[in-house]
Amino acid sequence: MTDQPQPPEGAVPVKPTSASRTTLSHIMTSHDTNLLGTVHGGVIMKLVDDAAGAVAGRHSGGPAVTASMDEMVFLEPVRVGDLVHVRAQVNWTGRSSMEVGVRVMAERWNESTPAQQVGSAYLVFAAVDEEGKPRRVPEVVPETERDKRRYQEAQIRRTHRLARRRAIKELRERRVAEGIDD
Ligand SMILES: CC(C)(COP(=O)(O)OP(=O)(O)OC[C@H]1O[C@@H](n2cnc3c(N)ncnc32)[C@H](O)[C@@H]1OP(=O)(O)O)[C@@H](O)C(=O)NCCC(=O)NCCS
Repeated sequence: MTDQPQPPEGAVPVKPTSASRTTLSHIMTSHDTNLLGTVHGGVIMKLVDDAAGAVAGRHSGGPAVTASMDEMVFLEPVRVGDLVHVRAQVNWTGRSSMEVGVRVMAERWNESTPAQQVGSAYLVFAAVDEEGKPRRVPEVVPETERDKRRYQEAQIRRTHRLARRRAIKELRERRVAEGIDD
C-alpha cells in the first residue's frame, strides 16, 4: 500500500527537476594544476561528468552513461585552494536520454566574496540496462520559469545535435561512395 499516486499502467512516469538536482563540492589541490599553476581544465571536466552522472543516475533510477558533452566553457581560471561547486540538473529528457546542464562555481580561498561562475557545460546521458542497452527514463517536469527556459533551450540543442550528426554521417557516406575516403 502506498499513498503516492501511481501513473496508469504503461504510462511514462514523471519526475520534477528538483528531485535529482545536486551539487558536488571539491577543494582544488596542487595535484590539479597545469603548467601555469592554475587548475587543469580536465580536472574540472571530470567533476562536471561526475556531477552530471550522479544527477542522471538519480533521475533515471539506475545506471546512465555519458553519450556526449558539449559547450564546455571555461570563463575564469580556478586556483589551488579554491572551493569549487559543480551544480547539475536534468534540463530535458527524451526516450532514453537526458540532457544535464552543469554550472561550475568557485569560492576563492582568499576572498570573502560570493562564489563566482567559472564554467558551464551540457551533457547527454543515456540510461542503460544491465546489458548496456538504452532504457526508458521518466519524463522530467520543469518546475520554475528558469527550468522551463532550460528545457526549451535543451530542445534546441537536441535538434542541432541530431541535425549535425545526420549531416556529418551523410557527408562521410557520400565521400566513401565516391571513393575519396575509406
Ligand atoms: C550512448 C549509447 C548507450 C547509445 O546507444 P545506441 O545503441 O546508439 O542507442 P540509441 O541510438 O537508441 O541512443 C540512445 C539515446 O541516446 C541518444 N544519443 C546517442 N548518442 C548520442 C550523442 N552522441 N549525442 C547525443 N545524444 C545521443 C539518442 O538520441 C537516444 O536518445 P532518445 O532515446 O532520448 O531518443 C552507446 O553509444 C554507448 O554505450 N556509448 C558509450 C557510452 C560510454 O561508455 N560513456 C562513457 C565513456 S568512457
